[in-house]
Amino acid sequence: MRKKITVIGAGNVGATCAFRIAEGNYADVVVLDIVDGLPQGKALDMLQAAPIVGSDMLITGTNSYQDTAGSDIVIITSGLPRKPGMSRDDLVQTNAKIVREVTENVMAHSPDCMIIVVCNPLDAMVQMALHVSGLPRERVFGQSGVLDSGRMRAFIAAELNVSVEDVHACVLGGHGDTMVPVTRLCTVGGVPLGELMAQEKIDAIVQRTINGGAEIVGLLKTGSAFYAPGTAAAQMAEAVIKDRKKILPCAVRLDGEYGISGVVVGVPVKLGSSGIEQVFELNLTDTERSALAASAGAVRGLLGVMGLSGC
Ligand code: LAC
Repeated sequence: MRKKITVIGAGNVGATCAFRIAEGNYADVVVLDIVDGLPQGKALDMLQAAPIVGSDMLITGTNSYQDTAGSDIVIITSGLPRKPGMSRDDLVQTNAKIVREVTENVMAHSPDCMIIVVCNPLDAMVQMALHVSGLPRERVFGQSGVLDSGRMRAFIAAELNVSVEDVHACVLGGHGDTMVPVTRLCTVGGVPLGELMAQEKIDAIVQRTINGGAEIVGLLKTGSAFYAPGTAAAQMAEAVIKDRKKILPCAVRLDGEYGISGVVVGVPVKLGSSGIEQVFELNLTDTERSALAASAGAVRGLLGVMGLSGC
């Protein structure tokens, strides 16, 4: 039987993600949005692209959660994007309400699903989905590290004029200004980055990575990035559906790893058919460890704002 993935939100991130999944030819896709006609129109357009990209998948748009029933994975992209000058954290109140309501509806129709959260502030929204769904952490996690490390890989590859495929970047922590690019663990063709690039260039790439979302918001002026975030979420869904056991940085609730408990932050995990199959605890230096703790502290602050303690 075909796998089924629902994407909640037919905006730019949702539509990009849905199309990437459909192109991948591994699951039927349902796109849900509250705006009448929007998911239906976009899904129809994607369906008509399917023969061109060689995909047999069915793509449907809907305003009703009934059509999402029995989903294997639900990807939540709904919520407001930020505008120039806003931080991701400025979205917390509005998007927490949306994620709460969406998660309740999702669970009513797909109690056995896995949830991948994409909307901001990312780590806090994962925590909300965990709280409302009651699912274990293996089944509720967030997309951010694939995006942040993707950005860093793109900048490193461009600077060194090498294939992006050969660049491995390590970005830990929350998806915000406190994220922790660990340059010591970045490699190019297995060679440590520090042996290939001057420190000041590395520092500039770290800053550009941290500022990666804001740079695009500043350029677009009316919204935030969507190609890379949508594609990143689709890669995570693919890892689960195809049981690829890929090692990807994902936002997951830590239960004591890195000395952190009850808070969602980004760390490397193994993603396969059971969701998060392993959380990797890297051997960090004291400085890296305290930067990660500070990032977790920033996420914890948002939980207070949402009326949630660690869950
Ligand atoms: C970004 C937003 C989507 O980083 O969080 O671009």
